[in-house]
Amino acid sequence: MSNPLRVAIAGLGTVGAGTVSLLTKHRDLIARRAGRNVDIVAVSARNSEKDRGFSLNAYDWYDDPVAMVKEADIDLVAELVGGEEGVAKEVCKAAITVGRHVVTANKALMAMHGDALASEAEAVGVSLNYEAAIAGGIPIVKALREGLSGNQINRVYGILNGTCNYILTEMRENRISYEAVLAEAQKLGYAEADPSADVDGVDEAHKLALLASLTFGTRVDFAGVYTEGIRRISIEDIDYADEFGYRVKLLGSARMTENGLEQRVFPCMVSKDKAIANVDDAYNAVVVHGDFVDDTMYEGRGAGAGPTASAVVADIVDVARGFSVPTFGVPVADLINVESIPIERHWGACYIRLMVRDEPGVIADITAVFREEEISIESMLQRARSQTEAVPIVLTTHACEEAAMRRTLKRIGALDSVVEQPTMIRIETLN
Ligand SMILES: NC(=O)c1ccc[n+]([C@@H]2O[C@H](COP(=O)([O-])OP(=O)(O)OC[C@H]3O[C@@H](n4cnc5c(N)ncnc54)[C@H](OP(=O)(O)O)[C@@H]3O)[C@@H](O)[C@H]2O)c1
Repeated sequence: MSNPLRVAIAGLGTVGAGTVSLLTKHRDLIARRAGRNVDIVAVSARNSEKDRGFSLNAYDWYDDPVAMVKEADIDLVAELVGGEEGVAKEVCKAAITVGRHVVTANKALMAMHGDALASEAEAVGVSLNYEAAIAGGIPIVKALREGLSGNQINRVYGILNGTCNYILTEMRENRISYEAVLAEAQKLGYAEADPSADVDGVDEAHKLALLASLTFGTRVDFAGVYTEGIRRISIEDIDYADEFGYRVKLLGSARMTENGLEQRVFPCMVSKDKAIANVDDAYNAVVVHGDFVDDTMYEGRGAGAGPTASAVVADIVDVARGFSVPTFGVPVADLINVESIPIERHWGACYIRLMVRDEPGVIADITAVFREEEISIESMLQRARSQTEAVPIVLTTHACEEAAMRRTLKRIGALDSVVEQPTMIRIETLN
């Protein structure tokens, strides 16, 4: 057996501790597969006294992870601290500068600085791997960079945030409000105390920007991702979706078109017939359509100590084997710049819910606006009169341009008979 691969772990939280546990538990298995031992030699976190469920005695402790990568005798650092700037970025930059391989689970860092870090890594001939950063335990980076490398791919989409998928599933199955499910998820540790990165779609957008780069060989363009989260989704809309044959999912979707790159993260209605509509709870899934392979779908746990450690260790084993692939599938200098298509040019069908006064002429006023904006209505549903002042009108449209839909909703929202701002949820056909 050749020399062991000497590893430093920066960050011993959920992912870092999981990685230490996996490398310890499967030490022999990994040595057989990698052809050499993988030894943890140094670790760093903020608090050396914290009980992490295992002894740290066998490792050199560093309070400062940047000093660790500069001073410790290592081949690779696993950056498992998190954050798009600060320590995480400094650890990766310092490691590359001194010629150490880097494995990271940090999607925020990679989405904002992935191109620059990859370029520096290439210049010195070290690997920069980030399997755990997209969809946790699902080996989607490997699937795109290696398994599907013979295919022309024009679309990739997925459920990339387990917290949002869990919330939407609970709302549908148990008819619990968004606020109540979120509070419960926070209590169980599924959601952060500040949930905005998850529920506003930012976390999913980071992952989508990376997926798009890997899929299309384009520069990572996080700013080009149109992002909407799930805060405004109500049980009522989830129920209507069910009646129309849909499930509501927070989807991240990227498509290469003649006019540029579409990158979207928004909650949308997906036909119950589609496999991805039935991916529930905290699970993630990614669908990739390749011209020779057709549709392929990858499903699994997108977060948690075990699944993320599984992905981090796969990246470490690649380095131990001496196996290296460009960070985004092609060398950084060959990544192309493509124009992002703004959301106003998005083309698709929509679900709309209006709360209106139950009085004569309302439907005529509403349909007149749709006619004038040249949007055709596919179906309309009006509930029986109720005791309350406002009644819902729910409709779905045929595909139209988003700009026309936005104009339509603005005009309808201004009608005297419409008592709330209209709710619009896009319908994704996923063809
Ligand atoms: N959690 C998941 O399921 C998951 C899934 C996929 C990707 N990720 C990514 O994995 C990374 C880590 O996430 P996590 O959930 O494991 O985070 P976490 O539980 O909060 O752990 C962060 C670790 O970093 C250490 N740390 C923070 N600031 C530090 C500093 N200035 N110097 C040294 N150590 C410092 C903390 O030390 P102390 O323990 O001493 O406080 C802690 O051990 C993030 O990029 C995250 O996006 C996480």
